[in-house]
Amino acid sequence: MAKLLWVTILSCIILGAITVTQVHGEILESLPFLGQFLNAEGSLGFLEILRSAIANFLTGARWMWLGVLTLLSLVYTAWLVVRKILSILFSPLNLHRALGDLGYTEIEGVKSQKDVANIVRRRRKIGDVPPVYPNGWFSLIASRDVPKGQARSVSVLGQHFAVFRGEDGKAYILDAYCPHMGANIGIGGRVIDNCLQCPFHGWTFRGEDGKCVNIPYAKKIPDIAKTKQWPCFEANGQIMVWHHAEGIDPTWMPEVMPEIDTGDWTFKGKTVHIINAHIEEIPENGADLAHLHHLHKPFIAAGVDLRYIYNPIYAMFSHKWVAQWEPLPAPDQHIGELNLVHSIEVWGYTIPFTTLSVTVHQVGPGLVNLKFKSVFGSGVFIQTLTPEEPMLQRLTHEIYYDWWMPAFLPKLMLRGEAMQVDRDVMIWNNKTYVSKPMLVKEDQLIAKHRRWYSQFFSENSPRLSFQKENNSEW
Ligand code: FES
Ligand SMILES: [Fe+2]
Repeated sequence: MAKLLWVTILSCIILGAITVTQVHGEILESLPFLGQFLNAEGSLGFLEILRSAIANFLTGARWMWLGVLTLLSLVYTAWLVVRKILSILFSPLNLHRALGDLGYTEIEGVKSQKDVANIVRRRRKIGDVPPVYPNGWFSLIASRDVPKGQARSVSVLGQHFAVFRGEDGKAYILDAYCPHMGANIGIGGRVIDNCLQCPFHGWTFRGEDGKCVNIPYAKKIPDIAKTKQWPCFEANGQIMVWHHAEGIDPTWMPEVMPEIDTGDWTFKGKTVHIINAHIEEIPENGADLAHLHHLHKPFIAAGVDLRYIYNPIYAMFSHKWVAQWEPLPAPDQHIGELNLVHSIEVWGYTIPFTTLSVTVHQVGPGLVNLKFKSVFGSGVFIQTLTPEEPMLQRLTHEIYYDWWMPAFLPKLMLRGEAMQVDRDVMIWNNKTYVSKPMLVKEDQLIAKHRRWYSQFFSENSPRLSFQKENNSEW
């Protein structure tokens, strides 16, 4: 849509310019060369020149084919350049940072970063971490990745889910393993109406309640023939599941951004980070104000490797953060609110137009909405955090911005956000969890955040099996 708008605007400008030059043809006639193309006869003069140019090519004997090839390669190069420019301006960003892509330093004699990551994972002292899968809503997959009539398998939170979109357009979540003989119905399963058919023997399960509605070779469907159906909620471009260790129904719901549903804000890009840390470490970052003024202060151009961010070349620039974190009162006690103002300074003076005010809502343990407003428009970063393994988190950021804005600016913002996260990743991938941290008075929000976060654990919340985790490879 934004692409259409901007192409229309540019076309109008070009057409307007041509009209003006046609009207004032006599001015252009005084200019050599251009006047020939756009003289009083307009396109007739241009066609005549083109015709004689082609005729020259054809009669130009030995140079003819060289001329044709040059012309073709010029046209092709121009097409590539235009395509690249359009992609920079309008295509959404898609950035995936796998474990090992960043956040680790070299180990002598180990060549691959993947091996380095595995060694650090094995050797690291994990610490006395809280339960590994908190209770709440978690994003399983982006809505656009599950088209109507298709199914996906997603393994997170120690569970295996089959996510599919029925013919009614609604998303459903069932247990991935078929209760008949254990096939994964998210892999090769067929969507029939609003049900999912197992690829092994054809048992068919209803998305709404998990009940088996068809066994192709049986005369009778037993009452017990059903699979687990998980509470599902779709909003903000995400298909979310309610996970609770005690099996209770949702006690709160995710925040919905109406601007995404109405199309006022459209998708402009996504980043994914795979992080080796306990899930609580990541939102705790929002209440850790001291780290903002240290880790995130050096200018982003200095990079994300913490060994080199104090590069004197960029010392005149710095990021300034003003922040406050506070849990909301009941009935929104599951939301932690961070008010953040970010700007870029040069020699202590704020650079105009770099100020960005962000209201961050940490909604339970797995969802964060970062709404922002600037002179260039408004939008939201939809952040999701889902444990793929006890100590392996998938952190995603999707940016939705005013529909009319070319993706270029939102992509720049998303890249900036991703680079700040990259710096955190280097800390998270290598740290230990300290259950009783040595806090000073100025760190008190960290303790407050831990008390707030404890509401997402319950009696049966799964704890880390040290032996399993320490032997794991990825
Ligand atoms: S395993 Fe699914 S129908 Fe048999
Ligand atoms: Fe951070």
